[in-house]
Amino acid sequence: MNITASLGTSAPHLPPLHSSPPLRPNGTESFAIEIQNVKFSVKTKQKKLVHILEDCSIQIPSGQFWMLLGPNGCGKSTLLKILAGLLSPTDGFMYVKKPKSFVFQNPDHQVVMPTVEADVAFGLGKYRFTPEQIRCRVAKALDAVGMYEYLRRPVQTLSGGQKQRVAIAGALAEECKVLLLDELTTFLDETDQIGVIKAVKKSLASSDDVTALWVTHRLEELEYADGAVYMEDGRVIMHGDASTIMEFIEDRKNSYIRKINA
Ligand SMILES: Nc1ncnc2c1ncn2[C@@H]1O[C@H](COP(=O)(O)OP(=O)(O)OP(=O)(O)O)[C@@H](O)[C@H]1O
Ligand SMILES: [Mg+2]
Repeated sequence: MNITASLGTSAPHLPPLHSSPPLRPNGTESFAIEIQNVKFSVKTKQKKLVHILEDCSIQIPSGQFWMLLGPNGCGKSTLLKILAGLLSPTDGFMYVKKPKSFVFQNPDHQVVMPTVEADVAFGLGKYRFTPEQIRCRVAKALDAVGMYEYLRRPVQTLSGGQKQRVAIAGALAEECKVLLLDELTTFLDETDQIGVIKAVKKSLASSDDVTALWVTHRLEELEYADGAVYMEDGRVIMHGDASTIMEFIEDRKNSYIRKINA
């Protein structure tokens, strides 16, 4: 795989990587993510059944940027791992458009190759691409996350946020249709946090029909979202447009504070 030759700036026609996704049972494709009554339980060493997710139902339209919020331990990461196929639900219906990619919280767990270019190209090794096709895909993906000028940079010289953007570019290069992003901004400083969110937004705008679900604790990040899901105690309490969810969470917080003060 020759990925070190010089890159052209324009991305010519790229061959498709994946066949069409399977149709959902009702035959429509308007939602990139749809789950109904998903449950997830685990058995402890003492053979006790612990219910982690209860009857979770959400619908996320294709091409949108959604956020998943809720208090610590409410089940956000578990739900995201189920959507990614890393865990199997105990019950319920689930559809997630493929191919999909799960990006982990810690930027140092994302990048595996010595340079930015090699890292984004890494996942393409399993396809039969010519070196030129690989170069084009890598360039297009890095451009989408605003990292094209870092192409030749050693990965260890990047900030945490830049590593996250390289990881997202890797998923875009493989034409992932759904990006599942778990608290990417936890380890980042403020500039990097906004940089990563903007990179996701930009990549959604410049890619064909990519959908992202972003887990966060930060209410202020909601301003970048098209929609949001709010969870508590393993249940989806509400999902819909971002401003409605923001108001709902603010109200919830205020009534909690009033209760404590009383
Ligand atoms: N394998 C497991 N066995 C037992 N309990 C588990 C297991 N996995 C998760 N849990 C519990 O399920 C609940 C949900 O965990 P999860 O990590 O999904 O929450 P979260 O909303 O992502 O939390 P955080 O905001 O802290 O990241 C927690 O109470 C957690 O301790
Ligand atoms: Mg979590």
